[in-house]
Amino acid sequence: MENIEFNFSQGIQIEAWGPFGQGDIDIAGNPVLQLLAQKYQKTVSQIVLRWIVQRGLITIPRCKPNHFAENLEVMQFSLTDEDMRTIYGLNQNHRSDSRNNPEDFPW
Ligand SMILES: NC(=O)c1ccc[n+]([C@@H]2O[C@H](COP(=O)([O-])OP(=O)(O)OC[C@H]3O[C@@H](n4cnc5c(N)ncnc54)[C@H](OP(=O)(O)O)[C@@H]3O)[C@@H](O)[C@H]2O)c1
Repeated sequence: MENIEFNFSQGIQIEAWGPFGQGDIDIAGNPVLQLLAQKYQKTVSQIVLRWIVQRGLITIPRCKPNHFAENLEVMQFSLTDEDMRTIYGLNQNHRSDSRNNPEDFPW
């Protein structure tokens, strides 16, 4: 969060590089996200992408054509502040690729 706020304060945009966990996390099977998907009548992927764009981050999900319409639709609904916080609460500080850790990266 601190990095994100600092970047925003400097006018630097941030991209969520692997919005679906780069195959390393079972996002589709997460019960909290599944409940939110039911609540909004959306897919779990849409909930995740909406959470990202609603934070003001860029995401370019790598996807096949069958997901194009689904992914564009995330611009057409909003998550409540409470649901945004619920998703923040799922944070595990997990990194799919340890090379992505700014603390360890050989700048
Ligand atoms: N963002 C960038 O600018 C960029 C550029 C180049 C490469 N990459 C790389 O692309 C990878 C992206 O990782 P990721 O975490 O986004 O996901 P991912 O590892 O590519 O996996 C996405 C998985 O989610 C499934 N899926 C379900 N709903 C989807 C939806 N609505 N849209 C897209 N996929 C959906 C896909 O399966 P089905 O398709 O079978 O349903 C696929 O198995 C990263 O490794 C990153 O390095 C990113």
